[in-house]
Amino acid sequence: MSPSELLLEPLSSELDYKRAEKREKLIRLANSVLFDFKYKKHFEDLMQALNFNYDKVIDGFLEYNLDSIFELPGNEIYSSIGNRFTLYIHNLLQGSWHIERQQTICQFMEGLHLHYIADIGFGVPSLYIKNILNNNIPIKIKLCDLYPSAFLFSSALLRLWDKDWDRKISYIQTDMDQQDYVGFFDLYIFQDSIEHTINPTAYLKKYVNESPPHSFFLLSLPIGPIIPGHYMAWNSNEEAELWLKFCGLKIVSQKDVYPNLDVDLFANDLGSEFHNYMVLCSKN
Ligand SMILES: C[S@@+](CC[C@H](N)C(=O)[O-])C[C@H]1O[C@@H](n2cnc3c(N)ncnc32)[C@H](O)[C@@H]1O
Repeated sequence: MSPSELLLEPLSSELDYKRAEKREKLIRLANSVLFDFKYKKHFEDLMQALNFNYDKVIDGFLEYNLDSIFELPGNEIYSSIGNRFTLYIHNLLQGSWHIERQQTICQFMEGLHLHYIADIGFGVPSLYIKNILNNNIPIKIKLCDLYPSAFLFSSALLRLWDKDWDRKISYIQTDMDQQDYVGFFDLYIFQDSIEHTINPTAYLKKYVNESPPHSFFLLSLPIGPIIPGHYMAWNSNEEAELWLKFCGLKIVSQKDVYPNLDVDLFANDLGSEFHNYMVLCSKN
């Protein structure tokens, strides 16, 4: 063994140790949701409906969360059902920023007179959808995404939430990269999704130009470094505000949501300033 290899040896075992520690922590976090008495039977039903099992759920969770966020393979990761389980587990993880992000969306919606919502790059059905179904609120929702895994997972989940879910919710398969326009709505949601398309500026401008004058836009934008699968990054809220203005939007409400580093392990690589800038906007 050469001297330089000898020097590398302790470093690589330290990295292995850290990785093993992170893996163990991630499995504990996933289990805290999967075996929570509130969700245990729910997840068993979901796995059965999707012909999935615990090991595959954990594999998907580790694939998304174990390595540094800078090593993610890009957007293809969203094509698997395992990834949809991961997004759903995140949404239920106690203390996570995902919970605060979902609550913020519900708060932003209060007081808006909505009839039709489009959620683009919706990922998995989230809290505001559960509220609309549970409280029989007369709002119709179009869930839009590129990957069939989103629709397969969503249908299985929505069926467990409400057997008549399809009276309020329907789907559009859309590709933001093709600048597909999903139609006229009162509210367009882009929660951590618009930065995944190759030209977010042209795409958002198109939506602002074509949407009805009264429509609102709810976006959550990651403020921090660019990562694989993203095509745009904002260094500060101010930079994001200028971009929104350039696209023809005016901010009505805003909130910063910071990750909880004990739970949102992905954020450990992203620096202490990293956060979600959540904004509700009207058209200029
Ligand atoms: C980071 S996830 C956000 C999911 C969800 N909105 C949330 O915040 O939890 C990005 C979402 O964008 C979708 N997506 C990625 N590229 C897309 C494209 N070109 N067109 C439409 N959806 C896309 C992915 O399938 C995924 O559901």
